[in-house]
Amino acid sequence: MSSLTTRIELNNHTAIPCFGYGTYKIKDASEAYESVKAALEQGYRHIDTAAFYENEKFVSDAIKDFMKENNVSRQDIFVTSKVWKTELGYDKTLAAFEKTMEEMQLDYLDLYLVHWPASFAFDDDWENTNRATWKAMTEIYKSGRVKAIGVSNFLPHHLKALMEMEVIPAVNQIEINPGFLQKETVDYCQENGILVEAWSPLGRGKSLSHPVLEELAAKYNRTVAQIILRWEIQHGIVPLPKSVNPERILQNANVFDFEIAAGDMAVIDAIPPYGNSGHGPDDL
Ligand SMILES: NC(=O)c1ccc[n+]([C@@H]2O[C@H](COP(=O)([O-])OP(=O)(O)OC[C@H]3O[C@@H](n4cnc5c(N)ncnc54)[C@H](OP(=O)(O)O)[C@@H]3O)[C@@H](O)[C@H]2O)c1
Repeated sequence: MSSLTTRIELNNHTAIPCFGYGTYKIKDASEAYESVKAALEQGYRHIDTAAFYENEKFVSDAIKDFMKENNVSRQDIFVTSKVWKTELGYDKTLAAFEKTMEEMQLDYLDLYLVHWPASFAFDDDWENTNRATWKAMTEIYKSGRVKAIGVSNFLPHHLKALMEMEVIPAVNQIEINPGFLQKETVDYCQENGILVEAWSPLGRGKSLSHPVLEELAAKYNRTVAQIILRWEIQHGIVPLPKSVNPERILQNANVFDFEIAAGDMAVIDAIPPYGNSGHGPDDL
């Protein structure tokens, strides 16, 4: 990985930039617009939104204006959205996708994700619900209006039902931060050709003060955020840090000119859980 625009080939040969920009909790129209614009101006080419974030329109307006003002073509920007967990099932997923496309007014999305799986915790027929949702996702993919389809917050037992279907998920976006590598799920995905993306790669800020990481930040002359994001990249994971602060947006992207030594990677891997959200797909 050499820069923000370096792409990784997904299992359907679509290529995804190795580093993204997250937009959760940026609900205010002008803040969402300005932050996405700032990220694009600083070289980010991969933007992550979701129907649940209630900002798809503002995010998409920023992308379209940036393209127009800078003569950047649509294919140079990778745009992801997601179907929320209240819209699972075949018909609701198709309708949710139409609503997203209406909000975003783009010809196509690069990636469309199932935001949360149906789980035995709240759905007795969870495996069939996930299959029905995935059937709709597959239909959307075949229509050509999304370049790739994937899932989010799927653990191996959720993924297994989809692995037997016609199209295999290209991506699984899961929570990953130091102390919360979710190794079993990462290994399962990487062994099955599913790219892993990290949500809350900075533990929503909670991961940024840990003595071990502070020590490593001093050793590499980097910020803790940069150490964490670099650690994720070196694990073959695509991080999606969110910031509304232009200096942090820039700082977070400056992770392509150093390498964390294997011994220090292992030190970060061994940090006990501390910054994760505590919300798993089978709890909600
Ligand atoms: N699929 C899912 O279920 C799911 C769930 C959650 C999130 N996501 C996606 O993943 C993205 C990232 O996750 P997240 O937004 O939860 O958390 P995050 O990116 O781990 O952390 C964002 C927080 O860290 C702060 N921050 C960012 N860079 C910083 C830096 N260099 N130094 C100090 N503070 C910094 C931000 O504050 P400022 O903005 O003030 O800089 C913000 O409070 C989301 O935006 C969303 O796109 C997906």
